Amino acid sequence: QASPDLVVVGSGFFGLTVAERVATQLDKRVLVIDRRSHIGGNAYSEPEPETGIEVHVYGAHLFHTSNERVWQYVNQFTEFTNYQHRVFSIYQDKTYSLPINLATICQYFGKSFSPEQARALVAEQSGEIDTAEAANLEEKAISLIGRPLYEAFIRGYTKKQWQTDPTDLPAAVIARLPVRYTFDNRYFNDTYEGLPKDGYTAWLTRMADHPNIEVRLDTDYFDVRDELPSDVPTVFTGPIDKYFGYEAGELGWRTLDFETEVLPVGDFQGTSVMNYADEDVPFTRIHEFRHFHPERDYPTDKTVVVREYSRFAQTGDEPYYPINTAEDRAKLERYRELAAKEAAEKRVLFGGRLGTYKYLDMHMAIGSALTMYENRIRPFFAEGGSLD
Ligand code: FAD
Ligand code: NA
Repeated sequence: QASPDLVVVGSGFFGLTVAERVATQLDKRVLVIDRRSHIGGNAYSEPEPETGIEVHVYGAHLFHTSNERVWQYVNQFTEFTNYQHRVFSIYQDKTYSLPINLATICQYFGKSFSPEQARALVAEQSGEIDTAEAANLEEKAISLIGRPLYEAFIRGYTKKQWQTDPTDLPAAVIARLPVRYTFDNRYFNDTYEGLPKDGYTAWLTRMADHPNIEVRLDTDYFDVRDELPSDVPTVFTGPIDKYFGYEAGELGWRTLDFETEVLPVGDFQGTSVMNYADEDVPFTRIHEFRHFHPERDYPTDKTVVVREYSRFAQTGDEPYYPINTAEDRAKLERYRELAAKEAAEKRVLFGGRLGTYKYLDMHMAIGSALTMYENRIRPFFAEGGSLD
């Protein structure tokens, strides 16, 4: 087997975008390595065996973007349905519309409000605390939306997400807490939104389907890197702290646990995502995957639900959301310096969610990979020189 021109570690959206561009635009050979037994990183999905209902294995993935370049790019590999995401919340046995909007306010206070009346109410209730003075997450939230709405929709949910009382969380965890003074409850307001018609895995598989791309699964980069040609350029999308042997310490992540159940009913909750805002309900939300694809021919007597639990990641857990404490940011600074050196000396570039310790939506991971390709990888192959 000829040796590759580029090694890509990680077959998530970042790695596959780089691999696809290099293979198809530059006609170079790319070796993609993934430690998991499937491609696609966290966007991977598969049919639940008993029902055939597509389940997003690492948590529900909604595609949305306003980035024209990304939208053009992804449409080469898949068509999208016209799915529009909406989320509801149960609190004290009542169901509400989210994100907090005019319907939520009318439901919660049990009467009709005009947009102007709702604005006045929230202004009055949030007047209790000045946002600039807020000492913790609870105070910040109250300063933005007032105590009643905070207690119903933010307190319990946030406490479960972080396993920490909101009075012990930094105010900076929430930047904004927008209230919509209309009945618009579309979750995303991007130009484009939808789900891949034949699923995420079909989309991801098509990206990798090229004679110049070899995908090696069940292979940890750290186990094989000594066997790879030492001068081959590499794009690394695994955890940056692990790459450097945790030399500056471990970066903090939150992880999620998923509990999947097949129920003998055609419809469990009537919608794809129901948040559970009460503190004493242990999970944060329930996904019912059939509702992501109402256009599909799914069984009418069975459904798949997934309860989601949130906690701090321990060594060995899947890292999902960067915690980003001041300590984490200091460590990341150090890793960035090491990464710059590694790019200059060993032709290794770091990208994606784990490689940059950044929460990236799919469209951001793809956009950032396209930029890395354009600015660094293509010039390197076209003009020679260094990769950094
Ligand atoms: P990943 O998908 O994580 O891929 C990294 C890959 O690297 C993995 O396959 C991993 O196995 C591999 N790897 C790591 N270390 C090694 C190693 N040592 N050797 C070999 N391989 C290795 N985005 C949206 O746009 N909409 C959503 O609704 C949405 N929901 C999300 C929900 C959750 C719970 C999470 C965690 C993310 C969500 N995202 C969502 C973000 C989306 O998952 C990311 O944008 C996407 O996964 C980023 O791709 P990536 O390639 O950077 O990383
Ligand atoms: Na205020």
